[in-house]
Amino acid sequence: MSIDPSRRHFLTFLAGSPLLAAAGLDESVFSRLLQASDGPRTRLDDTALQLAQQIRTAGEALDVFDFEPVAKQNIPVAHWGYLATGTDDDATIQANRQGFDRWAMRPRRLIDVSRLDTSVSWFGTKYPTPIIVNPLGSQKAFNPLGEIATARAAKTKDHLMVLSTVATTSIEDAIEARGGPVWFQLYHQSDWAVTKQMVKRVEKAGAPAIAFTVDLLGGSNRETMIREARKDTRTCTKCHLGGAPLPGVSGRVDDRDNRRKPNLVGYQKATPIPEVGTPTWEFIDRLKQSTSMKVLIKGIVTAEDADLAVKHGVDGLFVSNHGGRAENSHRATITSLPEVLLGTERRIPVICDGGFRRGTDVFKAMALGATSIGIGRPYIWGLGAFGQEGVEAVLGLLRKEFEVAMKQSGTRSLADITLKHITPA
Ligand SMILES: Cc1cc2nc3c(=O)[nH]c(=O)nc-3n(C[C@H](O)[C@H](O)[C@H](O)COP(=O)(O)O)c2cc1C
Repeated sequence: MSIDPSRRHFLTFLAGSPLLAAAGLDESVFSRLLQASDGPRTRLDDTALQLAQQIRTAGEALDVFDFEPVAKQNIPVAHWGYLATGTDDDATIQANRQGFDRWAMRPRRLIDVSRLDTSVSWFGTKYPTPIIVNPLGSQKAFNPLGEIATARAAKTKDHLMVLSTVATTSIEDAIEARGGPVWFQLYHQSDWAVTKQMVKRVEKAGAPAIAFTVDLLGGSNRETMIREARKDTRTCTKCHLGGAPLPGVSGRVDDRDNRRKPNLVGYQKATPIPEVGTPTWEFIDRLKQSTSMKVLIKGIVTAEDADLAVKHGVDGLFVSNHGGRAENSHRATITSLPEVLLGTERRIPVICDGGFRRGTDVFKAMALGATSIGIGRPYIWGLGAFGQEGVEAVLGLLRKEFEVAMKQSGTRSLADITLKHITPA
């Protein structure tokens, strides 16, 4: 069912009106009517709609989308822009969502699904779920506790968490809050000596793996971020010495800003050896030689690069387009996943991230052959809305939906989920 704008306007007005209570009517009736609209829900577009649908507690949420309007209201507009932005016109964010619609499910019946095992092993550590809390920078921009709240939620729900290089929490504090190993996402530094010290520090802190992100090496044009920053009446330079964001530059960082980025401080720059150009496969070899941690690459989307990664001894891959914030490729990561798996010939594990919002999305990626999937924005909606409790609720909802998808498909373990359980839509 689709709703024309004037009807939507009228329903929104009614949902917020005291007349509603006077007439003894339930606001949820209107919320449901407003929700029945416009195809798949991808991102917010209508302020009145957001206000009409807001949940008051994490427990009220029916799905992960319910957290988004609450988070939007709580987060300063410039920081919201940083979270919401894609590249250019944000088309690749939409593509990531639409990619899931190209697959439908083929459920099997009359299989005893009363006992379910959703566990997965990563380099010898078992997790009860394949859903990974992906690296996402600057989380104190969304909640005062930032990555600490996320790590505590990952601990409560026992999820694998990956910490960003540009986190507002150190790897040491994140591991302590998680109460167990946390992977580290690496952005290389212009001085290899500094990168090497960072890798050593992370290894000493107890991280079992690093994921080197390769999808932003040429920069990205984040228009939504710039537009939202322009609406913020505060002075950006008070906190960000690099100033407000600019077109064509994914982030503007002044070294002095690193006081809020604890993973970027404390290194010796005595003998800087600037990297020549941007990293190539030679950099991957260097990285592999410099650590005993597992090394993954984050941001691979082609079979050719997947094959090269295996040849260079990489231990795992993230099929990722940075949540639609790298190049504006218009290609969903779920569409790239099969060719990456072909390229690896299943020699190393593969994680897929980008646009995962439903348990059925997780199911489709597992059916195509992913070992795990990663989520980004949804858990930050939870964090921005209700802190640690919100993150836990987001993880819980996705897991519950995924479990239902598995049971309904007649699958009892991750190994049971195969290509036969999906079909082109
Ligand atoms: C605000 C924001 C910050 C991010 N920061 C990082 C980062 O520091 N390192 C990284 O490798 N990926 C980063 N990502 C990408 C995520 O790890 C992940 O690939 C992406 O968010 C998945 O898409 P989704 O948000 O649609 O779930 C970031 C994404 C967002 C939205």
